[in-house]
Amino acid sequence: MKHRPQRNEFLVFGAPAIEQAEIEEVIASLKSGWLGTGPKVARFEADFAAYKETAHAVAVSSCTAALHLSMLSAGLGPGDEVITTPLTFCATVNAIIHVGATPVLADVDPVTQNIDPAMVESKITGRTGAILPVHFAGRPCDMDSLAKIAERHGLIMIEDCAHAVEAEYKGRKAGTFGDFGCFSFYVTKNVITGEGGMVLTASEDTAARIKILALHGMTKDAWNRFSDTGYRHYQVVELGFKYNMMDLQAAIGIHQLARVEANWARRGEIWKRYLEAFGALPVGLPAAPEADTRHAYHLFTILIEEERAGIGRDAFLDAMTAQNIGVGVHYLSIPEHPFYRQRFGWRAEDAPHAMGIGRQTVSLPLSPKLTDDDVGDVIDAVSKVVGNI
Ligand SMILES: Cc1ncc(COP(=O)(O)O)c(C=O)c1O
Repeated sequence: MKHRPQRNEFLVFGAPAIEQAEIEEVIASLKSGWLGTGPKVARFEADFAAYKETAHAVAVSSCTAALHLSMLSAGLGPGDEVITTPLTFCATVNAIIHVGATPVLADVDPVTQNIDPAMVESKITGRTGAILPVHFAGRPCDMDSLAKIAERHGLIMIEDCAHAVEAEYKGRKAGTFGDFGCFSFYVTKNVITGEGGMVLTASEDTAARIKILALHGMTKDAWNRFSDTGYRHYQVVELGFKYNMMDLQAAIGIHQLARVEANWARRGEIWKRYLEAFGALPVGLPAAPEADTRHAYHLFTILIEEERAGIGRDAFLDAMTAQNIGVGVHYLSIPEHPFYRQRFGWRAEDAPHAMGIGRQTVSLPLSPKLTDDDVGDVIDAVSKVVGNI
């Protein structure tokens, strides 16, 4: 194979595609003098609810906040167990701990890398209160099986959709199966606001409660207190948090959401190029999407098994960086981190599939910002590093 010369500039992993519309909307917000939670947040919520074909969307400061408030509003707390995946970002598990509940890990399916419903079933006890699946890398979980388990045992379902804005399962949008769907708009995500999150719920009462919990437990947000309709008093009705989204953030999100499908299509093209280019290389590739589902193409992950690839995973990461290609790891399994081992006595070996994936996985750049040449550079670098070309 013939390669172009090595690229000169470092290709940043997960750099967002920001366009003029976002820039102008942010400038307009700055000039308007209204930077905090206001009409742009309301518009972003309405646009997001419409895109996801659901009744209510409440914008918050992060997906971590979305998960935390979902569990609080579901009444989960001390004494409750919440079953989730060991192959996730620490925020998923931390949010469970923050409400005082106990996280319980159910290993992933080694092929789909999503939580294995049979493992979930095996972890259910009299204390189980909720299931918290993560649509890993944008691939929807087996929602038929998970929904059946939740129904049979009377469990709350909270979907971690941080990777899964565009994902669908049998014609239904990810984030609308559970009682709550939680989204992230962090800079590397499919729709970004810098930092930001969203909770989806079908219940008007729950949406109202989450709104109150997201702003100190106050009955009215600033827009309702200070707008041109005159000052309105608020009351603190419960102990809340400072988890609101700003109009400055929503200004970005509104235009990102307007391009969500175009960006998804672009990532789909890159995904296809990677699959074609890496088919003959000694690396593990993402499993083909399940029939009648829509993958959100958030992370393109390959598995570097030292014996097969001729290089270990961590050496591969260094070699890619030396080729000026930014890479990521999603994720070392949760029990690899000392805090959880100390707190819960977990061992990585207890979730062997997540442990194995976490020790071999590498995420390659997949931003819609990548040019065709950038994608060619990533392909060349991987081919050089594992193919000795
Ligand atoms: C699977 C998963 N859950 C939760 C989060 C937390 O999202 P945020 O950074 O918006 O709090 C992330 C973010 O990276 C994530 O990848």
